[in-house]
Amino acid sequence: MALPSKEQKERYVREMFNGIAHKYDLMNTMMSFGQDQSWRRYAIRRAHVSTGMNVLDVCCGTAALTVEIAQTVGETGEVTGLDFAEEMLAIGEQRVQNSGLQSKICLTQGNAMALPFEDNTFDAVTVGWGLRNVPDIDKAISEMYRVVKPGGWVVSLDMAKPTAPVFKQAYWLYFDWLVPLLGKITAGRKGAYQYLHDSSRAFDSQQQLTRRFAKHGFVETAFHNLMGGVVAVVEGKKPER
Ligand SMILES: C[S@@+](CC[C@H](N)C(=O)[O-])C[C@H]1O[C@@H](n2cnc3c(N)ncnc32)[C@H](O)[C@@H]1O
Repeated sequence: MALPSKEQKERYVREMFNGIAHKYDLMNTMMSFGQDQSWRRYAIRRAHVSTGMNVLDVCCGTAALTVEIAQTVGETGEVTGLDFAEEMLAIGEQRVQNSGLQSKICLTQGNAMALPFEDNTFDAVTVGWGLRNVPDIDKAISEMYRVVKPGGWVVSLDMAKPTAPVFKQAYWLYFDWLVPLLGKITAGRKGAYQYLHDSSRAFDSQQQLTRRFAKHGFVETAFHNLMGGVVAVVEGKKPER
């Protein structure tokens, strides 16, 4: 299946995530071999999240990263999770209730292309497996840059591209084979797995995304490979005034 055009992508992505919302967490755990939670914790560390901070989690989906952040910011901190897919947010609300952290977490429906926040609002901004899905990566990065405070970090956790010879070939072989298989197992959801595959192939490498962060004005930009570069954290700090 060809990737949708830029114009169609937003609607396609929203409908797709609304359609898989109830299976998303399971799919995520399966695809990551149960590593997704530890990757999220690593992303939180790279975003320098600490007690008392006010943090934004863009493309929060079912709020797994949002709740982890809330546990890190403690009693005096707060977290906003933003997503445009109402079914993902509904699952997220259940997770928030179950965590008992509802007084510190606000989930809101909104678009990463036009964040509904004032400039320089948040101490840190995270986005987990989100940038691959937006219709305009540069616009999303510029929005995150705008709303983070000077000196604050923006961190993206997403699919990446392994570079080590042999491992790289083995990974794509595995990925190309795994996706149709998982689609077959979870009948009716082949499109979602195909989208995951195609969007991962089309997405920036970790090196390219790091360069994009630098182009938008972030300093101390870097990437950190996880699982041999299958997934990576890309980070940048908004310069102090
Ligand atoms: C792969 S899920 C990631 C969820 C979550 N961050 C996690 O760690 O599991 C991607 C999410 O991005 C959301 N999304 C994609 N494009 C968006 C946009 N333009 N604005 C807001 N949310 C968006 C989707 O609705 C979906 O919930």
